Amino acid sequence: MTSSASFVRIVEVGARDGLQNEKTLLPTATKIELIDRLSATGLKTIEATSFVSPKWIPQLADAAEVFAGIHQAPGVSYPVLVPNLEGYARARAAGAGEVAVFTAASEAFNRRNINASIDESIERFAPVVAQARADGVAVRSYVSTVLGCPYQGEVPVRDVVRVARRLHELGCYEVSLGDTIGIGTPAKARAMLHAVAQEVPMTALAVHFHNTYGQALANILACLEEGVRVVDSAVSGTGGCPYAKGATGNVASEDVVYMLQGMGVPTGIDLDRLVAVGAWLAGQLHKPTSSRVTQARINMA
Ligand code: HMG
Ligand code: MG
Repeated sequence: MTSSASFVRIVEVGARDGLQNEKTLLPTATKIELIDRLSATGLKTIEATSFVSPKWIPQLADAAEVFAGIHQAPGVSYPVLVPNLEGYARARAAGAGEVAVFTAASEAFNRRNINASIDESIERFAPVVAQARADGVAVRSYVSTVLGCPYQGEVPVRDVVRVARRLHELGCYEVSLGDTIGIGTPAKARAMLHAVAQEVPMTALAVHFHNTYGQALANILACLEEGVRVVDSAVSGTGGCPYAKGATGNVASEDVVYMLQGMGVPTGIDLDRLVAVGAWLAGQLHKPTSSRVTQARINMA
């Protein structure tokens, strides 16, 4: 990837992935403030919350109140996670204009995460996508466990390709490839992306790395070199899935933006503002930030 490389879009998942596994339950007003602050950084896609079962993810039980409370900035989209038609209806009632469905490349993880097989989950998405099309609502999607599963171990690349292709064929405009437990390494990440891109256009793919083993930035760079231009990340490096044993936070948005800036790649994001949001969020969660860039800026201040 050269310094004249094209725009990279960051999908900020901190308000959803970032908060769904936190021990500290943030007040609704703080979640709204987080999203509003993120809206002022130049981000173009901010995943706002999740309309899943509140029994499964109590941290996001206030999804409707959060969504209704945010100030939607012009030109910014605010997708929300939905697992089924019930979630879609709740999301629409709250005013959501974009949704994201999610499944996995591993049966064992999917069963624990959404109590369904991969095929069953995709059957549940079909009416969601059909209704979304009728409503003019864009549908994003995720494939989890693309580089390994906490229950199954190795996940064959052909399974990732198959699930990604099905989501794209169903009508999802983007398929985000999730290293849910942050176990991947650059050559494997690149080979997986390369294989998926033989079946789904690269322009419809995104990457989503958790940073459990500290490989996320290296994996992202490898995938950028392979041609991907959409990267998911979470401000302050928050995140994790309660149904993915051992998974830690997402790669920090600040660190991704810093790396891209250093490479001369435009993102449209104001790094100073993003760092300020990350430092503020860490304070709200009463824990140190996981962003190395924010740590460095705090130490230098
Ligand atoms: P289930 O228990 O099999 O659901 O859960 P069910 O259809 O049998 O319904 C049982 C009850 O849940 C019913 O209520 C439903 O109304 C209710 P009851 O009659 O018992 O009172 N229910 C709902 N309530 C609110 N909103 C809904 C909804 N659906 C059913 N949408 C279900 C199945 C999918 C609902 C559940 O397993 C679930 O919500 N799972 C979500 C788990 C989750 O959110 N995980 C984290 C997100 S995925 C992730 O983080 C990975 C990602 O970041 C990428 C990566 O890193 O790889 C995206
Ligand atoms: Mg995730």
